[in-house]
Amino acid sequence: TILVLDFGSQYSHLIIRRLREFNVYAEMLPCTQVISELSWKPAGVILSGGPYSVYQDGSPHVDHDIFKLGVPILGICYGMQELAWINGKGVGRGDKREYGPATLNVEDQSCALFKDVDHSQVWMSHGDKLQSLPVGFKTVATSDNSPFAAIADESKQIYGIQFHPEVTHTIKGKNLLKNFAVNICKVSQNWTMENFIETEIKRIRKLVGETAEVIGAVSGGVDSTVAAKLMTEAIGDRFHAIYVDNGVMRKNETVTVKKTLDEGLGINLTVVDAGDIFLSKLKGITDPEKKRKIIGNTFIDVFEDVASKIKTKDGSDIEFLLQGTLYPDVIESISFKGPSQTIKTHHNVGGLSENMKLKLIEPLRELFKDEVRHLGEILNIPEDLVWRHPFPGPGIAIRVLGEVTPEQVKIAREADYIFIEEIKKAGLYRQISQAFAALLPVKSVGVMGDQRTYEQVIALRAIETTDFMTADWFVFEAKFLKKVASRIVNEVDGVARVTYDITSKPPATVEWE
Ligand code: XMP
Repeated sequence: TILVLDFGSQYSHLIIRRLREFNVYAEMLPCTQVISELSWKPAGVILSGGPYSVYQDGSPHVDHDIFKLGVPILGICYGMQELAWINGKGVGRGDKREYGPATLNVEDQSCALFKDVDHSQVWMSHGDKLQSLPVGFKTVATSDNSPFAAIADESKQIYGIQFHPEVTHTIKGKNLLKNFAVNICKVSQNWTMENFIETEIKRIRKLVGETAEVIGAVSGGVDSTVAAKLMTEAIGDRFHAIYVDNGVMRKNETVTVKKTLDEGLGINLTVVDAGDIFLSKLKGITDPEKKRKIIGNTFIDVFEDVASKIKTKDGSDIEFLLQGTLYPDVIESISFKGPSQTIKTHHNVGGLSENMKLKLIEPLRELFKDEVRHLGEILNIPEDLVWRHPFPGPGIAIRVLGEVTPEQVKIAREADYIFIEEIKKAGLYRQISQAFAALLPVKSVGVMGDQRTYEQVIALRAIETTDFMTADWFVFEAKFLKKVASRIVNEVDGVARVTYDITSKPPATVEWE
């Protein structure tokens, strides 16, 4: 195992990710980790980049005991400056910030870190730079702007690089990380999803023990389903999945969830039809944030109520709560947060676990979305579900603009169903990151047969994105849009006009509310 100490760079999590791409396992801990408190011995240590300056008061520093481990060390960006700071302090503000691509010149071809990495593009992102070589180090590579783009003390197997090998813009970055992990640290390349499942099941069994029971909410989405299936593999019926129908789910959702999770995957599932409760609380509410709050709070009430009625085999209380938290949700919580050195712990349970005194289990907390999909495939979760687009917790309530009534939900739901059905038929579903129909609270004049109509407008939205922070609208062929528009107007009562949203994010968001 490689230990990654995180100094808070926006790229830190990618280091772990890249290592896993060649089957090397790594664990990330805050840069302030006390080495003597580690319960395992790393085969090598990577110090990440970070937004600070090593010479400033209050900036984070690593426990010097990492040098006593006697294992290879690689410092990236801030991590390299930290190594230099510890070994001679030759770090200062660069005359220019360097951000973007640069060409790497390897000066010392014999350096094990740079096997097959010469003269390629690397990605720089730094304001500070080395002004002199730290004691015991030599220059291994340069770039136009960085005379010390890479340094090494090969006798101690300590390496520093100014650029970021973990981002894909560094063309040979993966080779470099592989050189470090496999050739220099000599870690074995045995991380596979199959043995992830095996170790995770063992870990869950040990944590939960012989008798304790676990609950978890499932939404019909990929993360919660994969987490629930994994839990079922580990402890069978002692895991209780709860699906709450909040009245603003997609068409046929409840029936499908029942069929897939309960009948298909053998998950011990309780379905709660709470649509009326949610819709009555949403009556008269038009503000998007209020809608979100109402749905979130009502969900907690309903979930807790159902959970309290679940009978465990030995009559004791449920002890654990399963959450399908993924790695990107965790990143924030483990990063070093400024000079105050407070480290947030992750809680997206909205007060649930505190009220219920449940212990959290998060079996997916090390995985990225595409890895969860891969895991789902291995666990025999149907392909349709594994590749499903994300769906917001507040559901169709934030896709019915204005007041949410059962009639309005029905219109939005039917239009959405047709849109998605056509996307799937056209073979475009996987190319698109998310697609849906929103119902606008305006009426527009139309004509059908000889009749004048005066009905509502549907806005279709389809986007492509990698991280949902920025997104672009998907370019359909005109023929496709024509067909969807015609079907919606003909088949959905109450809609007289269909539009397609051609705004990117930013400035727009993905959802309309
Ligand atoms: P926006 O609209 O913020 O959406 O650009 C980005 C992604 O987040 C989803 N989204 C939500 N998901 N609760 C959720 O669980 C919410 O309140 C919520 N709002 C937006 C949205 O569907 C998109 O995938």
